[in-house]
Amino acid sequence: EKIFLNGKVISGVDAAISVFDRGFLFGDGIYEVMVQLENGLFYGDAHWQRLQQNLEKIGIDYNVAEMEAYLNPLLMASNLLNKPCLIYIQVTRGVAPRKHSFPKDVRPTTMMYALPYSLPHINTKNVYAILRSDNRWLRCDIKSISLLGNVMANERAMEENAEEAVLVRDGFITEGSHTNIFFVKSGKVYTHPANQLILDGITRKIVLKLCEDLDIPVMEKAIGVDQIDGMDEAFLTGTTTQIASIAQLGDHTYHAPDTIGPVTKKLQEAFAELKK
Ligand code: PDD
Repeated sequence: EKIFLNGKVISGVDAAISVFDRGFLFGDGIYEVMVQLENGLFYGDAHWQRLQQNLEKIGIDYNVAEMEAYLNPLLMASNLLNKPCLIYIQVTRGVAPRKHSFPKDVRPTTMMYALPYSLPHINTKNVYAILRSDNRWLRCDIKSISLLGNVMANERAMEENAEEAVLVRDGFITEGSHTNIFFVKSGKVYTHPANQLILDGITRKIVLKLCEDLDIPVMEKAIGVDQIDGMDEAFLTGTTTQIASIAQLGDHTYHAPDTIGPVTKKLQEAFAELKK
């Protein structure tokens, strides 16, 4: 297994990161997940751009074009050139004696790897998602590697045999532990506005664009927990999730696990077309 680390493509077993890396000590870094299909990266530019913007948000001075240039050499070394795979990218503030404030003149730690991974044409799952309180910080727009709030919520979902934990802050649904959430009511699509309380997912943006193309009205408006029962359909979006229908959210059942709502289905089909 090959890894890109700090400007070199090396064998995974030889990859070493200092225990003084700020990613390890403080969770001080940004990550990105994207997929490559047979015909190339799926919205690769949007992912690289989000990584660059996130680094700027936390004051890490690094040009992601430097890593991007190593993607093909990494894929080649991993025998994944032009093959379906998942690409994980992480940039941390670098290695420095443990002190909260930012160190000066430190080179960011840059890492990426690729693993074989194929997306289904359409995600046919019809998931059960639990509701959990959103215990994360107030800058969920940052794709921080500090994911304690997310992993703890997701672990609870796994314990309850659910696929996802959908988070609730101050009575409103924000997003899933690793997905965005949409609702459908009377043919209209609702999702949380892209503010500091959610990650503005690339898949979220693609779905909003599909709604526009398909003349499906959209409202970027948070849905209250008390409104869940009144919605007709709900679905999750994410890079690896694509569009996943929700059969049950908390105590509310939208439909049987073998049924997919018409708007969700339409969007899933349109999304699948984008991959061709
Ligand atoms: N998760 N919200 C959160 C909190 C996420 O972690 C993610 C992505 C999304 C969806 O974003 P996108 O459509 O850009 O993948 C929303 C990644 C895939 C992960 O942590 O593995």
